Amino acid sequence: MPNAKVNAKPLTRRQERLLYLRKWLRHGRRIASVAPSSRALSEATCGRIDARTPQTILELGAGTGAVTRVAAAAMHPDSRLVAIERDPDFARALDNAVPRAEVVVGDACDLAAILQARGIDHVDVVLNGLPTPSLTVEQRRRIADAIAGLADQPWVSQITVMPWVYQGFYRCRFEEVRFQPVFRNLRPGGVYHCRGVRP
Ligand SMILES: C[S@@+](CC[C@H](N)C(=O)[O-])C[C@H]1O[C@@H](n2cnc3c(N)ncnc32)[C@H](O)[C@@H]1O
Repeated sequence: MPNAKVNAKPLTRRQERLLYLRKWLRHGRRIASVAPSSRALSEATCGRIDARTPQTILELGAGTGAVTRVAAAAMHPDSRLVAIERDPDFARALDNAVPRAEVVVGDACDLAAILQARGIDHVDVVLNGLPTPSLTVEQRRRIADAIAGLADQPWVSQITVMPWVYQGFYRCRFEEVRFQPVFRNLRPGGVYHCRGVRP
């Protein structure tokens, strides 16, 4: 479906919440959240986007587009925004909600192939909504390898609702980690802004 805009109406806030709840009840940890990120959490996640410069922005686990919407509004008009989401219903809602995004319905573990197919070898910012700690070691390795293989090291902004639990997890994986707390979210949490994937 990538970029096949179907001109359907974006979901209302209520429809979006119901879709999340339904998916969470059905898939649990694969979705990892009962609701989309709040505006405050989405804005914090987009904190490394620079409106003054064209950038390549990559979003992993974009859901219905809570963060994608904020990214599209915050970025330079010539920036490129590629959003990967595995669930086809979420991806459809995302595609309708954010026409500026190139929506890829796929598995973030195939990141290297997804980037190669689009001729992308440089990314400035990765917005990571994936439930990273609950992925298998092999899944995490594939995503980390794809990011480590990029021409320059991007900022990876990882959403979390369990900040204290995963502090060490990210510090082991990245050379630089800065935590930005966000209290205005259904579950208070924050964003780890990380750079430099450790080998
Ligand atoms: C916690 S939700 C976050 C959604 C959105 N970024 C937000 O902040 O509202 C996690 C999302 O990651 C997606 N996801 C989980 N594993 C994935 C994978 N391997 N590849 C792509 N998307 C995945 C889920 O379908 C879900 O939409």
